[in-house]
Amino acid sequence: MSLTALQNHRAKVASRRAGVRADAPSKINLTLEVLGRREDGYHELRSLVIGVELADHILCQTSPEPGIGLQCNDPTIDHDENLAVRAARALAHRCGLDGALRIELQKRIPVGGGLGGGSSDAATTLRLCNSLWQTGLDENALAAVGAELGSDVPLFFTLPSAIVEGRGERVSPVRLRWSGFVLLVCPPIPVSTAEVYRAFRPDDCNGFPSGAYREILHAASAADLSMLLTNHLEPAVFRVCPTLSGLRDELIGLGLTSIRVTGSGSTFFSLFDDSEPAHRAARKIQEHVSRVTTVVAAAPVGQGPILFEEC
Ligand code: C5P
Repeated sequence: MSLTALQNHRAKVASRRAGVRADAPSKINLTLEVLGRREDGYHELRSLVIGVELADHILCQTSPEPGIGLQCNDPTIDHDENLAVRAARALAHRCGLDGALRIELQKRIPVGGGLGGGSSDAATTLRLCNSLWQTGLDENALAAVGAELGSDVPLFFTLPSAIVEGRGERVSPVRLRWSGFVLLVCPPIPVSTAEVYRAFRPDDCNGFPSGAYREILHAASAADLSMLLTNHLEPAVFRVCPTLSGLRDELIGLGLTSIRVTGSGSTFFSLFDDSEPAHRAARKIQEHVSRVTTVVAAAPVGQGPILFEEC
């Protein structure tokens, strides 16, 4: 083929590009119980997780170029390590495709904040590529591909609310009576999940209500629910990053009495029945604590719909 013919062919293929987009929501752990250490080095968990409206936005397009290209608004994101890229690569490999793809990732969920942003990006990318490449896998098969990428990926196929068990791969949908708003307080401090689990000690579980996840399902108000919030990893988070312990004291001093760390941190959250008091609390924190960002978002929410577009 001559160079002009090749260029024409490429332009034609490019003009037929298809795209799919969706929001990838974040999550918080209302409860997180560490039940023991497993032989494979991971920890046996039981966690009640809900989806939160704060979301990354992902567009996947077929590409005339080979390989998986990533464009992201966060310049610190590493292409090869990125979970959206790894998810697309894993699905292409599973289905024997070359996986020529362009991913546009708009990050809004803080990285290393315990909000599951990377895992949610992976789950959403699997759904998007499954649709774009018409690979025909059901949600269970996609979640199984996701489980290979990270312990938190499967839960994103079962939101708005789920009980997560095992290493994270056993996920059951549940229904919460409560719905409302979450105030997220995000310090600019990424925390390593592996480091937090390494710092975990069995007596860190003392002082938290046991089996609270069952009662939480019936709680009707943020006040009732807040008394039951549990995170066995929280003491380890504060050992790994003492600055966060100081920040928690500051937030309590500002009147935010019911706060918890989500997952392995670093984000704190507090629950509200209505958005106005949540925004008021957010404004007060922004006035007094300069180094954090605050977000008020609805919860529980599920994964967003997949939207198709001609590119
Ligand atoms: O699975 P993922 O790569 O997200 O986990 C990160 C790290 O967190 C693991 O390497 C492991 O040290 C720890 N982890 C754990 N038990 C779990 C989940 C994660 O010990 N259930």
